[in-house]
Amino acid sequence: MEFSNTSSTLLDWSGSVLLVGLVKGQVQDVIDQLEKLLDGSLKQELDRLKFTAESSETASFRFLNSSLKKLVLVGLGNPEELSINELRKATAAGVREAIDSDEKLGIFFPWDQYEREQALKAVSETAKLCVFKDLRFQSAPETKAKPKKIEFIGTQELSTSTLEYVHASCAGVELARELVGAPANKLTPSELARKAGEIAKENNLECLVLERNNCRDLGMGAYLAVSQGSDLEPKFIHLTYRPNGAVHKKLALVGKGLTFDSGGYNLKVGASQIELMKFDMGGSAAVLGAAMGIGKMKPLGVEVHFIVAACENMVNGSAIHPGDIVQASNGKTIEINNTDAEGRLTLADALVYACKLQPDKVIDLATLTGACVIALGEEIAGLWTNNDELARDLESASNEAGENLWRMPLRKSYKDGLKSLLADLKNTGPRAGGSITAALFLNEFVDESIPWAHLDIAGTVWAEKDRGIDPAGATGYGVRTLLNWVLRESKK
Ligand code: BES
Ligand code: MG
Ligand code: ZN
Repeated sequence: MEFSNTSSTLLDWSGSVLLVGLVKGQVQDVIDQLEKLLDGSLKQELDRLKFTAESSETASFRFLNSSLKKLVLVGLGNPEELSINELRKATAAGVREAIDSDEKLGIFFPWDQYEREQALKAVSETAKLCVFKDLRFQSAPETKAKPKKIEFIGTQELSTSTLEYVHASCAGVELARELVGAPANKLTPSELARKAGEIAKENNLECLVLERNNCRDLGMGAYLAVSQGSDLEPKFIHLTYRPNGAVHKKLALVGKGLTFDSGGYNLKVGASQIELMKFDMGGSAAVLGAAMGIGKMKPLGVEVHFIVAACENMVNGSAIHPGDIVQASNGKTIEINNTDAEGRLTLADALVYACKLQPDKVIDLATLTGACVIALGEEIAGLWTNNDELARDLESASNEAGENLWRMPLRKSYKDGLKSLLADLKNTGPRAGGSITAALFLNEFVDESIPWAHLDIAGTVWAEKDRGIDPAGATGYGVRTLLNWVLRESKK
């Protein structure tokens, strides 16, 4: 899908599929122009349909006797409530309605009423990402046609920086979606490591993969404990982006990389969605998607580390027993009172490793707890951090990216729930506040002096049905927030 602009007006634009965005109460002028173009009465039909340009409301028309074959109108809502996020939603609704051929799609929105660059970025990203479909696993895929070209009508030239940004961010999101969508028999820890190597090669990143022995030498007893019940080798992945010129900031992004989470001996039963637990590497997908995007954007001044302790949580004769005590690489001992709280065990060693690199800031992303899904649902990720400035920065980066997150408390008194009779701590606290104790557990493996944020993406990693920019299935959540955040850090 290619993006371009044309300064021509609606009236002299030529093409056969057109999407027009309308602001509530400001439809008349545009409708007049369209009526001229079509030589017909649209107004009556819109009255009949009771179309009032409510946010994301659509109306579509087909024409036989005109060079314009299909027209889709989409509401942008009240003029005083216009926002980039509403624009994203409307774009997704409109584009989904408009496409059914590979012909050029023209988009006419009231560009002047938004911050232009941001609007073009948001509309391009959304148009591309909302029609993504993963056809890799079908023998004879029925491909729905997508427009090869999208032309923005009535706006100035698209800057190369906008186009490059959109290209990099969409590539990152699509990669993350493919990684998450791939089932556990296709995407093993080795395959994830191979993929990481490929990303590194194509985008000039350094790639280091630690094997089980290397991890043992580093004392990663928590991570290796999780992997020991699987027939598949664990792979500890570390990619590095080094900018041209001086480095003034070092960042580390850590992603949970469970290519499958059966729960272990605390097996996932009942309504625990074991069949979806291929998505338990969603954090690592976001991190590798960001690695790809950063590799393409090449921001100056920031060195970025991408870290994934990949493995499977399975059951065999060597698997951890509930109650086992293991030691993480910072020396802390952990009583594993629940083998299904495995993500935090792998992250414990990954965070210790990340902190040893002495980064200025660390962010981890993980499909960590069902409790977070109960708290925030499927559209909002939980954010825990030891640093207020980092909280604000991530909130604004995610807001600009159209990804939602909500700050949650790192309530210190809840740490009591992780007290163990025998070891330094247990890996699981009481059911109530389960996503908070999970974050507090991670906190035990982070250097206190380093600003750190944890994003629980258990709800946002997967969409049950088409929702805004995300088609049903893997969302690629986190990539756009991370890219925005890193770019801002590079300019800070
Ligand atoms: N991968 C799951 C979390 C999860 C659950 C993600 C549902 C998405 C949807 C994680 O490893 C897990 O099993 N967590 C347990 C923790 C519990 C044992 C304290 C959970 O949330 O049930
Ligand atoms: Mg689990
Ligand atoms: Zn898990």
